Amino acid sequence: MTRTINPADLQPNEFYRYMIGTIGPRPIAFASTIDAAGQVNLSPFSFFNIFGYNPPTLVFAPSINRHGHKKHTLLNVEEVGEVVINIVNYAMVEQMSLASAEFERGINEFEKAGFTAIPSERIRPPRVGESPASFECIVRQIIPTHEQSTGDFYPPGSGYLIVCEVVMAHLNDAIFNETGAIDPHRLDLIGRMGGDWYARAHGDALFEVARPKIGIGFDQIPEPIRTSSILTGNDLGKLGSFATLPTIDEISEFKASGVLDELIEEAQFGCQYLPDLLHFRAKQLLAENKVKEAWLTLLQTQ
Ligand SMILES: Cc1cc2nc3c(=O)[nH]c(=O)nc-3n(C[C@H](O)[C@H](O)[C@H](O)COP(=O)(O)O)c2cc1C
Repeated sequence: MTRTINPADLQPNEFYRYMIGTIGPRPIAFASTIDAAGQVNLSPFSFFNIFGYNPPTLVFAPSINRHGHKKHTLLNVEEVGEVVINIVNYAMVEQMSLASAEFERGINEFEKAGFTAIPSERIRPPRVGESPASFECIVRQIIPTHEQSTGDFYPPGSGYLIVCEVVMAHLNDAIFNETGAIDPHRLDLIGRMGGDWYARAHGDALFEVARPKIGIGFDQIPEPIRTSSILTGNDLGKLGSFATLPTIDEISEFKASGVLDELIEEAQFGCQYLPDLLHFRAKQLLAENKVKEAWLTLLQTQ
């Protein structure tokens, strides 16, 4: 069963719960801004992502608050079009959450939440010293996502996209591995989900998926394999990402090498169904990312 929902049939905040509950984990922009008088503000926004890299472009979106007013971050970037977008890791989550409280305008959340303000190089708002990565940005556009309203009252839940160009980045040495690449294990990022839930990108939550240059595609997987009750969608995805099927010679050489002898005997003498045994073996091989061996195993019965 599927729940099919037209947003127009719900209150905006009801539909919002479905979106934030399903669209995630969302990265968090911990935005440092100043007002025209130079007063500093620091607040998290998970309506955030990278939208381009030439020029390097980040977008985040403060919504109108529940009283129908613009949030301080938005007011600040309207006054001073500069923002540092600081990245949030697990070690920062509770203090970041504290900074999201509705403090009065002009209250400095660096102080309230106990973060270190480090002067930026190209812009006036300071960056967060504890962040593994901080991006100094110039605000290029502020785009409303709702009809313009008169006065200073806006429909709650409506908002603005703040389109930012990165002009300087600060990346903590601790996030790099020996080869100079950014190591996600060292970053320990968090993401926002629905309700009060967060996700932490560490340990088993991190995994790699090799990106296919060109795969044979799902549709080219022989039917008995494609409809296997043993192989999952992820298994078939790996098989479909393989560039070319092994040749007939390779398939017979694989059998002649003896690697499947044990399975073939098990089928013969243990009265087991050989294709099922081969599918289980292929599944194991796929889990070890031995995709060619998996194909060579599966194609023995074709
Ligand atoms: C992890 C996290 C993510 C948030 N994401 C958003 C967001 O994307 N948009 C938004 O309007 N408020 C978001 N909030 C709430 C704001 O941080 C909160 O309203 C804050 O008080 C705004 O501060 P400001 O008025 O100083 O700008 C988020 C809060 C947390 C804790």
